[in-house]
Amino acid sequence: MAETTITTPLTLPCGVVLKNRLAKAAMTEGLADSMGVPTQGLVRLYQGWAEGGCGLLITGNVIVELDHLERPGNVVLAGALSDAAKAAFKAWTQAGTADGTHVWAQISHAGRQTQKLVNPRPKAPSAVKLGLPGGQFGEPQAMTQAEIEATITAYVDAARTCQTVGFTGVQIHAAHGYLLSAFLNPLANQREDDFGGTLANRARPLLEIVRRTRQAVGPGFAIGVKLNSSDFQKGGLTTEDSVTVATWLQDLGVDLLEVSGGNYEAPEMMGMEGLDPDAPRPTKSASTLAREAYFFEFARGLRAKVKMPIMLTGGLRTRAGMQAALDEGIDVIGIARPLTVDLRAALPLLNGTSDHLPAWEAQLQERPGLFGPKSPFKLIRTIQGFAGIYWYYGQFYRLGRGQDAAPALAPLKAMGEVMGLSKRWLAARRSNTYFSPV
Ligand SMILES: Cc1cc2nc3c(=O)[nH]c(=O)nc-3n(C[C@H](O)[C@H](O)[C@H](O)COP(=O)(O)O)c2cc1C
Repeated sequence: MAETTITTPLTLPCGVVLKNRLAKAAMTEGLADSMGVPTQGLVRLYQGWAEGGCGLLITGNVIVELDHLERPGNVVLAGALSDAAKAAFKAWTQAGTADGTHVWAQISHAGRQTQKLVNPRPKAPSAVKLGLPGGQFGEPQAMTQAEIEATITAYVDAARTCQTVGFTGVQIHAAHGYLLSAFLNPLANQREDDFGGTLANRARPLLEIVRRTRQAVGPGFAIGVKLNSSDFQKGGLTTEDSVTVATWLQDLGVDLLEVSGGNYEAPEMMGMEGLDPDAPRPTKSASTLAREAYFFEFARGLRAKVKMPIMLTGGLRTRAGMQAALDEGIDVIGIARPLTVDLRAALPLLNGTSDHLPAWEAQLQERPGLFGPKSPFKLIRTIQGFAGIYWYYGQFYRLGRGQDAAPALAPLKAMGEVMGLSKRWLAARRSNTYFSPV
């Protein structure tokens, strides 16, 4: 049998064929208008990404409940869409599906990781506040069973709407500490009812959403899930638990399981350590080639336990590293940060003219100084960690406006831009007036 490489097509269990093994992983774009409707900025970004050659594009968080945004500027899919909104969604999916590309909406609810500015009392599995300095997040309230049921319905309705506006699949976000991930995390979920305690109970909302979504969208529409390999916190979701959840998801016919890890308290999805120095960290691979991928060892172990297609995301930058993952039976390579400044950065890799992707995170980390990302002061390091993310958002604003990206942008300046635009977006949202961040 011919060797699988990044250019080999992949047929998913639902019958969908991805034209190659590269996927743009989800990145929150912040480019919806104040009604949560996609703008021309999103169309521009996805045109570029579709031209960039990845077989699958997964959108950033698309939120299923308006008051549980992951950030101001999120696309929102809650309730029925107006004709104008439908047309805007269709323009977006049309851009993303050019040249046989698949585009899946990542459907999500931020839970206790909702910013205080958006909602000071977000709903969560339990009233357990995030353990982060800075007071950016509100006081979570434990959901009632009726609220959990309503949220499950909101996910399923959103998935069904995705199908009607031209997405070719959905990815249910159950990673990174957002609502479904928090249900899985015993530190965040201290419930004593049917949604807490045992792993089966903690996984219940996720499994119900997957089961009912399949009923709603039929057999030929792709359903993916993004799952933490671990929360990387003492007492959080363990790798053993994660494998068990993966086997349940396989039984429900999930088409692609994306493996990631961590949350806001332990940002291992970005390869970064959390505030607790004693927390478990991802196991580094013994293989030199595979070492760049943060969750490779977990994915390799999972491969032996499940047959469903696996997508591995986090740190993959070189053809050799990607090939090492494919050689171990990983099906899809997820890529996020390398595709921010140049939306078409995957093309040279796909056509064989380059062997690696740009690693912007290395450039951001290299800035020296007492107040830089390697500052001896923990608070400065935390602020710089967040500012490093805002740098990517700053690139999206520029690209969304049709401007050039700005690799020299200072992260703290980007942070100021994002905060200014977020406040204006929220003010417009509250007064029911129109505002577009691009
Ligand atoms: C700017 C930015 C926004 C992100 N937004 C999301 C998101 O909306 N949903 C998600 O699941 N992951 C999100 N991530 C995480 C990425 O999908 C990915 O897991 C992570 O960046 C590691 O992959 P990489 O090393 O290729 O960047 C985001 C990452 C970045 C840099």
